Amino acid sequence: MVFVNTTSQNNTQIVRAQEEHLPAISELAGVIWRACYPGIITSEQIDYMLARMYSLDVLRDEIRSQGIRYDLLLVDGKPAGFASYGPTSESGVIKLHKLYLLAEMHGRGLGSRLLQQVEHEVRAGAGCRLILSVNKRNARAIAAYQRNGFVTADSVVTDIGGGFVMDDYIMAKELAG
Ligand SMILES: CC(C)(COP(=O)(O)OP(=O)(O)OC[C@H]1O[C@@H](n2cnc3c(N)ncnc32)[C@H](O)[C@@H]1OP(=O)(O)O)[C@@H](O)C(=O)NCCC(=O)NCCS
Repeated sequence: MVFVNTTSQNNTQIVRAQEEHLPAISELAGVIWRACYPGIITSEQIDYMLARMYSLDVLRDEIRSQGIRYDLLLVDGKPAGFASYGPTSESGVIKLHKLYLLAEMHGRGLGSRLLQQVEHEVRAGAGCRLILSVNKRNARAIAAYQRNGFVTADSVVTDIGGGFVMDDYIMAKELAG
């Protein structure tokens, strides 16, 4: 695989994903979601959301047409996690859509490292506010976001079809200054 816009640290690298990396991201998402979401949402909802959010067509459309960027974390050269983020209807406000690490990579500061890279890119693009949604029962992720300066701004329940809802907090971090 060929990578561009790489930042390296010890045995880890964060690279800007290109279309050729999307199959690896889709596969990684399946592994991570099936490990981290049981107990938070049902396995039926996991399958439903994976199909809607991580098919190659959806991922390709995100990076080709929606201005969404994927940053892929490599540990010892192998895909270990990713973050995705992109514009919103509000100028300067960027949404972090996804932040996922393989379970065996948790607790090493790698999620925070991905977040710091996202913040760096958002600031470089003159973004001033980063927002995200996180399941209210996802305590580990909420703690990671709080550690990184995000605060809860709202609470929303979204009907995503198929008889499922997302019961989320909206968290935000101001980047200006
Ligand atoms: C959310 C997620 C990316 C956060 O990653 P994380 O590894 O849990 O959190 P951090 O990167 O901030 O790492 C902090 C942990 O690493 C430890 N750590 C070790 N070395 C560290 C270092 N150099 N720097 C910072 N923390 C370090 C900290 O002590 C802390 O440990 P603790 O969680 O046992 O208290 C990760 O939990 C994840 O992928 N979860 C599943 C998917 C998910 O829910 N995504 C969010 C969807 S909205």
